[in-house]
Amino acid sequence: MILAPSILAADFGRLAEQIAEAERGGAGVVHVDVMDGHFVPNLTVGPPVVASIRKATSLPIDVHLMIENADRYVDAFADAGANWISVHVEAMPHLQRTVSHLRDRGVRPGVVLNPSTPLGTLDEILPEAGYVLIMSVNPGFGGQRFLPASLDKIRRLAAILRERRISAPIEVDGGVDVANARSLVEAGAEILVAGSAVFGRGDAEGDARRLLEACR
Ligand code: DX5
Ligand code: ZN
Repeated sequence: MILAPSILAADFGRLAEQIAEAERGGAGVVHVDVMDGHFVPNLTVGPPVVASIRKATSLPIDVHLMIENADRYVDAFADAGANWISVHVEAMPHLQRTVSHLRDRGVRPGVVLNPSTPLGTLDEILPEAGYVLIMSVNPGFGGQRFLPASLDKIRRLAAILRERRISAPIEVDGGVDVANARSLVEAGAEILVAGSAVFGRGDAEGDARRLLEACR
């Protein structure tokens, strides 16, 4: 199980420090939420922030693109040091091209589903996906309530992956906390994204550790 703290809930004025705290608590990946005010209503950060994070940590950087025209920007994020980049199925008309381009660039390609997007939309891309991100909130904001139907969606996806002998791990994002972390892992999630549950209370190290312990 890998904990991927989302910096969306961190104090951006002391980002390097906040990431170091989460890392001391056992974080394995840094999750960066990129929003464009079009695909989702919110605006966040771009490649320069990823480049700064790259200098601040040796953890893999997981860039979650919630943007239109993602093809126009993936190279800039890869150049900035992103190790993993995920794109939304709902926003990508030529998803296979994007996924294979990311692989060519040495980036692990992730595919993301919104809560209302069926697993069936992954049928063709699944063998090429480096990971699958199941949104457990509607993307756009941190601190939203976990949608309970996500648990069964993860279970069904895990079964499909097993049946098709595909090794892509499942990542889950949105409303993850100490109360639901264990059930998410039991359902088949291997990468847990958590924003508020790590950075929301001023003890990123302790809260990261508590989340990891909750899964054991
Ligand atoms: C939501 C983002 C999430 C968000 C998670 O659109 O993709 O990564 O930061 O925040 P929490 O853990 O607070 O729900
Ligand atoms: Zn995210």
